[in-house]
Amino acid sequence: MPSNVFGYCRIYLMSLYKYDVLILGTGAAGLTLALQLDPKLKIAILAKDSLNEGSTLYAQGGIAAVLDSKDSIESHIEDTLNVGAGLCSEEVVRFSVENGRNAIEQLIDSGVEFSRTNDSDSKSPLHLTREGGHSHRRVVHAADATGRAIETTLLEQLLARKNIDAFAKHIAIDLIIDKQSRDSTHKKTSHKVSKKVVIGAYVLDRNSDEVHSFQTKKVVLATGGGSKVYLYTSNPDISTGDGIAMAWRAGCRVANMEFNQFHPTCLYHRQAKSFLVTEALRGEGAKLLLPNGKPFMHNFDSREELAPRDIVARAIDHEMKRLGATHLNLDISSKRSDFIQSHFPTIHQKLLNFGIDMTKESIPIVPAAHYTCGGVMTDMDGRTDIDGLYAVGEVAHTGLHGANRMASNSLLECLVFAASAATHINSNSINGSISDNTTSVDIPPWDASRVTDSDEEVVVSHNWDELRRFMWDFVGIVRTTKRLERAARRVELLQNEIADYYGNFRINNNLLELRNLTQVAELIIKSALQRRESRGLHYTLDYPEKLATAENSISDPNSYIK
Ligand code: FAD
Ligand code: SIN
Repeated sequence: MPSNVFGYCRIYLMSLYKYDVLILGTGAAGLTLALQLDPKLKIAILAKDSLNEGSTLYAQGGIAAVLDSKDSIESHIEDTLNVGAGLCSEEVVRFSVENGRNAIEQLIDSGVEFSRTNDSDSKSPLHLTREGGHSHRRVVHAADATGRAIETTLLEQLLARKNIDAFAKHIAIDLIIDKQSRDSTHKKTSHKVSKKVVIGAYVLDRNSDEVHSFQTKKVVLATGGGSKVYLYTSNPDISTGDGIAMAWRAGCRVANMEFNQFHPTCLYHRQAKSFLVTEALRGEGAKLLLPNGKPFMHNFDSREELAPRDIVARAIDHEMKRLGATHLNLDISSKRSDFIQSHFPTIHQKLLNFGIDMTKESIPIVPAAHYTCGGVMTDMDGRTDIDGLYAVGEVAHTGLHGANRMASNSLLECLVFAASAATHINSNSINGSISDNTTSVDIPPWDASRVTDSDEEVVVSHNWDELRRFMWDFVGIVRTTKRLERAARRVELLQNEIADYYGNFRINNNLLELRNLTQVAELIIKSALQRRESRGLHYTLDYPEKLATAENSISDPNSYIK
């Protein structure tokens, strides 16, 4: 009998949908994968908010790929390995970089319009910008709204596909797992081995508040990252680590959760909610300035403004704390106004709305949580520990980013691994039919019979605030063991309260996200406590040095001690 991953069922069956492939997420990873699957397959793709909402929509700087003859694959690999501080998988880095050109060409074929250059010396027709850690100009972009160009183009194509049903405002609650056993003959002994197989997911339809079951042969997690676990973030509200939490509860290993990337330059303004000011500004010459107008990055790294993000964010944090400043400044006003307006039209306009003219004055900035380097462990086909379950995009840990992601390598990873996962799923499909042994299994219906409407919704909103604040204060850019232990105690209390709430009251989007974020927080804190060194994005005052040997921190739910 299959069971849901909690070992008990809250049964309230609304509808049962059957598909070949269920994709959770409509960002760069989910859309790319859906469009590259065999068109004979019946596919469902879900977004928990509107179909275009997600980090992809807001991506600014671009996609890293080797397109200029003066650049080289080896140089992109070397830069990625350097920024990753000893923890990247060289095989995965090579695979990603070698497939970069192809990924960009596919986007161009799909109709994505990247910025072109009018520089006659350039060997590439595309304008290539530069960001931190890159030793060459190699970032392909659509002005300063690269993600919007990708998201809108791919989504339009997806909606035209007859074999794909897209569901907006449908949030997956949990994966449905079946335990199957088969005979194994090892040498002379024969015995049964059991394995976990994903057979679908429970999904809350936010339009009707009903829970539906999706029964499928393959499930792909393309749910993005979990940076919303921090009070200040560049990410949209959907980044609540749902895929990581669902995979963990289902029994998948996750890796390197302590490596949370803080982007150095998010707009500091009372009315601005999570607005990024792209690193490409620094690539085109912008300087970071103290409140007295003086540059300072030369005191921290010889690459100055184009040092990797961990170094720049830490330098800003250091200077802000030293001076007691609320923010520092980023200044590109020495460039010509028409250059700024043509390269950064979105940011220019957005800042004007806040009364800041970046062509004439500097931009107030602060670091904010930006990217989840860790995630669900996958192989190069996007396969996780559970049969039939894939993870692609920011939700996954492929080994590309190591201890710190290099700028613009994330969209690259989304595109490259979505393509390899699609190829793997297609290789299982014969004439549009995926061979499997899950369709005969009955899906246990969802049970909501023992739960009632909450009369204390304030508990959920209070816990949201508390979680994000203590993660910011105790598990931020600079950590200590004492702060991490403080956070661990608080997260445990929250988890107990949320489990109680989850068991007794009717679920809603807020509660589901909070439950997932709290799980993500626990994994971050536990991984951070285990790492007794400072490496890449994980910096602790108690262990300021890097150990001689670099090791991934792997958490395994099957042997996990709370
Ligand atoms: P997302 O685009 O975040 O999409 C996640 C999807 O999953 C959404 O559709 C969401 O609704 C869905 N989802 C989540 N949970 C559930 C659930 N429980 N049930 C159903 N659906 C669910 N990277 C670069 O390489 N270059 C850049 O220039 C760049 N700029 C960035 C700028 C900003 C402001 C931000 C926030 C990030 C930027 N990044 C950039 C990072 C990059 O954009 C993201 O890592 C990448 O877009 C993630 O894509 P994704 O498809 O994995 O997830
Ligand atoms: C940016 O444009 O600064 C973000 C790039 C990235 O996150 O890779």
